[in-house]
Amino acid sequence: CGIVGYVSSAAANSADHLALDVLLQGLGRLEYRGYDSAGVAVVTEGGELAARKRAGKLANLLDAVTDDPLPDARTGIGHTRWATHGGPSDDNAHPHLADGGRLALIHNGIIENFAQLKRDLVADGVEFSSETDTEVAAHQLAKNYRATGDMTEAMRVTVGELEGAFTLLAVHADAPDTVVAARLNSPLVIGLGEGENFLGSDVAAFIDYTRRAVEIGQNQIVTITPEQVRIIDAAGAPVEGEPFEVDWDPATAEKGGFPSFMDKEIHDQPQAVADTLRGRFGLDGRLQLSEMTIDETILKSVDKIVVIACGTAAYAGQVAKYAIEHWCRIPTEVELAHEFRYRDPVVTEKTLVVAISQSGETMDTVMAVRHAREQGAKVIAICNTFGSTIPRESDGVLYTHAGPEIAVASTKAFLSQVVACYLLGLYLAQLRGNKYNDEIQLILSELETIPGKIERILEGTKQQITDFAIRHKDEQSVLFLGRHVGYPVAMEGALKLKELAYIHAEGFAAGELKHGPIALIDEGQMVIIVVPSSRGRDSLHAKVLSNIQEVRARGANAVVIAEEGETEVEEFASEVFYVPETTTLLAPLLATVPLQIFAMELATAKDLDVDQPRNLAKSVTVE
Ligand code: G6P
Repeated sequence: CGIVGYVSSAAANSADHLALDVLLQGLGRLEYRGYDSAGVAVVTEGGELAARKRAGKLANLLDAVTDDPLPDARTGIGHTRWATHGGPSDDNAHPHLADGGRLALIHNGIIENFAQLKRDLVADGVEFSSETDTEVAAHQLAKNYRATGDMTEAMRVTVGELEGAFTLLAVHADAPDTVVAARLNSPLVIGLGEGENFLGSDVAAFIDYTRRAVEIGQNQIVTITPEQVRIIDAAGAPVEGEPFEVDWDPATAEKGGFPSFMDKEIHDQPQAVADTLRGRFGLDGRLQLSEMTIDETILKSVDKIVVIACGTAAYAGQVAKYAIEHWCRIPTEVELAHEFRYRDPVVTEKTLVVAISQSGETMDTVMAVRHAREQGAKVIAICNTFGSTIPRESDGVLYTHAGPEIAVASTKAFLSQVVACYLLGLYLAQLRGNKYNDEIQLILSELETIPGKIERILEGTKQQITDFAIRHKDEQSVLFLGRHVGYPVAMEGALKLKELAYIHAEGFAAGELKHGPIALIDEGQMVIIVVPSSRGRDSLHAKVLSNIQEVRARGANAVVIAEEGETEVEEFASEVFYVPETTTLLAPLLATVPLQIFAMELATAKDLDVDQPRNLAKSVTVE
């Protein structure tokens, strides 16, 4: 879910923002965090609380506040929801009201003990108007406010009574210039203005107003007024937040003339790759990872690497396995974070865990990081969001510099995660002496050519892919095949198609085809095959060419991603998308791009919203 809070005062605020404008602007920026429903509550200076909420996308809320305007107010909270407890309906949308409509609360996360608390509240005579766990928190807070007479203290007491992982924001009609918030294992940052202050799930919530932000820790309570920000811990003791400057421009989170964020972000990829490579070299030409704060002696003694991630990031991790094992000779496993966390994995002080996450907030990955560290492992985060939970809780970090990724399904973050994994592999190889400087330099100079090569796909092949996708918009099922690093590429291609176009799609290891999936193939079944690098033309390459013929012989509509010059595949393929040539291990940086474009264009042809696919959220902050 996306959360925003705002306070200002007419006297101090030269810009004189109305809360509603700030909240709606922030919610627009945060909508990628969830879009099942949206709502706002404002408190006027005279102490009137008013709220509006609607199921569906933010546009529905905009209609609601246009049809039924809210009073002018300078304090408020806003929410955009990704449903957990209770389906997406007007009633289940946030804010939830309590104390006879004088208190409003919004929430991100899950309150695990809500059923028990609800029973107690119902026994006390409280009436509920939704199925959500959130409403329980609203009534509990109201009860504690009645007992304490102070919203901050009431919030502190309430957080102590709730179990789970959550962020809460609340306003009360009695305190027209105050928003109180609590953070327990869920994201929340403060934005500092002049005579106005902000709260947000991430800095996007207030980036249009200020770049000065403050990080707060877990299990802390924040109270903002126009002139003040106060943070306390669970015991009520004051805490200092950590101030930081937000280094991205609001314009980088705009569509920049493209029809969708996804289209823009696909076109951002040459830059994202170049920026992730930039500044990683010392004067001696050696690779240096400045943010890598783990001691070199520890990194030298690592005897196993475990990469943990979810979704697209997990496919970046699979690519990492091939590269790191090949370059560093360190056994490397890749596991979905939620599976790793709950299966008693073998992790020791000599295990290096690499947690990959665009947002740095995916709760499954956060929990896996904590579990790994409890077992004594060192954790390196590969992350795109500065100051988010995963890098903060890790021992070292390697930031990808993809810039803000707004479209829910990941594109440029994926490529930059793959680049970061290569850098980590090369760095470890350099440190442990598995590779000499000149070999590393060769790989790095090949990496330097990748942005230009992605550019060539975007300029040279995109139109062909678009036309092809339009012709195939009624496809019911698509299979993707790849070997070696082409295997995670195939799975990522299938995931993109599922996410964006709601088409049944599966990625398989091409060698596995004959062990089962080949039974799925009949006349006209679309199979997209990722052909490995042709450099050296090894047995891997030959095997995939055979696989193309195997599916073709069974009537499949074989679509091939191959390197320029591989004209012999044309004989067996109904369509070939050529990508520039590179080495085997680096090929995912190119081969993935046509698959992203295919999924986006097919979804567009089906008239679907490629930026906000149904049921998904960009940052899943619940387990
Ligand atoms: C969600 C998104 C996916 C993303 C995954 C991991 O499921 O819908 O697109 O790959 O989370 O996100 P992260 O921020 O941890 O990379």
